[in-house]
Amino acid sequence: MKVGIDRIGFSAPNRYLDLVDLAHARGVDPNKYLTGIGQRKMAVPALSQDIVALGANAAEDALSDCEDAEKASIGLLIVATESGVDQSKASALFVHELLGLPDSMRAIEIKEACYGGTAGLQIAADFVRAHPGAEALVIAADIARYGLNTGGEVTQGAGAVAMLVAENPHILALEERSVVRSRSTDDFWRPNYSAEAFAKGKYSEQVYLEMFAEDWREAESLGLTQVGDLQALLFHIPFSKMGRKGLRSLESVIPITDYERLRARFEKAIIYGQDVGNLYTASLYLSLISLLEQDESLYEGDRIGLFSYGSGSVAELFFGTLQIGYRDRLDRTSHEALLATRQRLNMNEYETIFNDSLVTDGSRQDIEDGDTTAPHALVRIEGHERCYR
Ligand code: HMG
Repeated sequence: MKVGIDRIGFSAPNRYLDLVDLAHARGVDPNKYLTGIGQRKMAVPALSQDIVALGANAAEDALSDCEDAEKASIGLLIVATESGVDQSKASALFVHELLGLPDSMRAIEIKEACYGGTAGLQIAADFVRAHPGAEALVIAADIARYGLNTGGEVTQGAGAVAMLVAENPHILALEERSVVRSRSTDDFWRPNYSAEAFAKGKYSEQVYLEMFAEDWREAESLGLTQVGDLQALLFHIPFSKMGRKGLRSLESVIPITDYERLRARFEKAIIYGQDVGNLYTASLYLSLISLLEQDESLYEGDRIGLFSYGSGSVAELFFGTLQIGYRDRLDRTSHEALLATRQRLNMNEYETIFNDSLVTDGSRQDIEDGDTTAPHALVRIEGHERCYR
């Protein structure tokens, strides 16, 4: 049975900071951010754009022309995030209500840093294999925050990707065999008491690259890489230079024609992410959307590899095949428009939004709507309860 991604969509905040402005404000050569880090802009979420709102908006995008009968066959909703809004209630339950999904389903939240989206996707694929006829909705949604004036500041971002996983998918059929490894590392983490993540930046890059090399070697020994047949290789993209380093590590390992093909496609796969920043769980999948929408040279039947990395750390290398008609399930025009029509913030506005926070004393806070055109937003918090549009 073929199982994989049948529908896909994304959402991103409607405001951004240009990284040249950030470089000037921080006294850094802009080329460090543009070339050294490889990013142009980062999305800046308002308080109303938490991961529930971003995730639900991504799902509205993915399911925009999905019939009610098909929604009724969704038996599992997973929200993968490391920016959860509650320690107990799953963000999936807020999303479940906002989307009007059927009661007769499971709705859960899962976490393992940026790997969470892939964990969700693989669990969803197993669920569909085990329950013929059922579908699963996976939402990866995050807000990457490191803090003002930190080394990680330039690698912030926010957004969400939603994927419907089904039998006989229209976009990408997933192969069952993959290579995965888990190892406890302290490269990046966010303690419960902190609104910002901590990272050992250079060490985190090193672990990412080591685990990619180990995954690649194991996949090779299992005959999974078949690099001549691999039309593209996607990476978790905390910032585009990181994925580029991953790809470059193969330069002396695989034939040059294969490397050049993968390199050309990599450039297409980072276009959206370079303007949004790190989306943690969703970064790999935004890269997938970018590749599929921006690359005109891929064909149905082409095989692609995906490398997922989550700090802490779990790394999985898996593969999929593009399905007949996959282009009909994409929406390049509206996604380009979403990114092109965002509001550019100045440094003052960015820092004000960054320092904005929700009340924690149980009082009522009406939250300014950061994007009235989006279907869903956090509108109020009162008595410690969240209320969404
Ligand atoms: P930094 O201290 O700014 O690094 O931290 P740097 O000074 O080495 O500069 C970065 C690059 O810019 C270097 O290139 C410089 O040479 C270059 P590289 O050696 O890396 O190829 N550079 C210039 N290039 C052109 N013109 C110039 C110039 N100046 C310097 N004038 C770092 C950078 C990414 C470490 C920092 O931003 C950080 O800590 N970010 C957060 C951690 C992170 O993203 N780690 C990635 C791997 S872990 C991961 O992916 C998981 C994650 O997504 C979380 C999760 O799983 O949930 C983070």
